[in-house]
Amino acid sequence: MTQIAIIGGHGKVALHLAKILTGTGHTVTSFIRNPDHAADVTASGATPLLADVETLAAEELADKLTGFDALVWSAGAGGGGAERTYAVDRDAAIRSMDAAHQSGVKRYVMVSYKGSRADHGASSEDPMFAYYEAKAAADDYLRAKDLAWTILGPSSLNLDSATGKIEVGADVPAGETSRENVALVVAAVLENPATVGRFIEFNDGETPIESAIAV
Ligand SMILES: NC(=O)c1ccc[n+]([C@@H]2O[C@H](COP(=O)([O-])OP(=O)(O)OC[C@H]3O[C@@H](n4cnc5c(N)ncnc54)[C@H](OP(=O)(O)O)[C@@H]3O)[C@@H](O)[C@H]2O)c1
Repeated sequence: MTQIAIIGGHGKVALHLAKILTGTGHTVTSFIRNPDHAADVTASGATPLLADVETLAAEELADKLTGFDALVWSAGAGGGGAERTYAVDRDAAIRSMDAAHQSGVKRYVMVSYKGSRADHGASSEDPMFAYYEAKAAADDYLRAKDLAWTILGPSSLNLDSATGKIEVGADVPAGETSRENVALVVAAVLENPATVGRFIEFNDGETPIESAIAV
């Protein structure tokens, strides 16, 4: 049994993930910032923990992360403007990596997006510019951090039910994937140490997740 923290714990991916992980014997604590979300988190099988990662210093977050085996980052500003996007998707994510390191959390899984990279090519006029910049900065920071990290790159997310099947690869054209499949992929990489140090980009597809993420 593993103690897993999910940041962004009331997110759509996160609620699926908590259900999957607690259903397979893990203990999950879901970090949320809105107390009204606690009941949904409890219903997912996880324990809610109130923490606004936008305002918490790394040291404060490290205190809250002590004792966990793994941290999943599935938070996001969700198009809340450039300032909030940088504050959450880049700065708070980076603090969470420092906090994980300080508190001895070894495993870190980042929910990023398919195609995340510093040379994303979007112009500063693009409404997604801040998101692309923020995610690339956070992903690159994680790559350089002494943590057992995996970065996930799902395509556009939809609300379909999980198929349990995906297609992995940077060369696979971008498509869509369900949030429930993303949650299954997070759960699968947590079980598979061979996914450490990899950026796994994927769409929904035809290959069972365990095979698709195998090296
Ligand atoms: N949308 C796409 O097509 C797409 C594609 C690829 C990857 N992704 C990535 O996938 C991630 C997960 O997707 P999703 O659909 O599950 O997202 P979601 O439902 O929008 O969940 C994001 C969660 O982050 C939380 N959050 C935001 N600011 C926070 C803060 N300061 N402190 C604590 N929690 C905070 C939100 O809480 P509140 O409810 O309190 O705001 C929300 O519960 C996204 O964040 C995105 O980076 C998205």
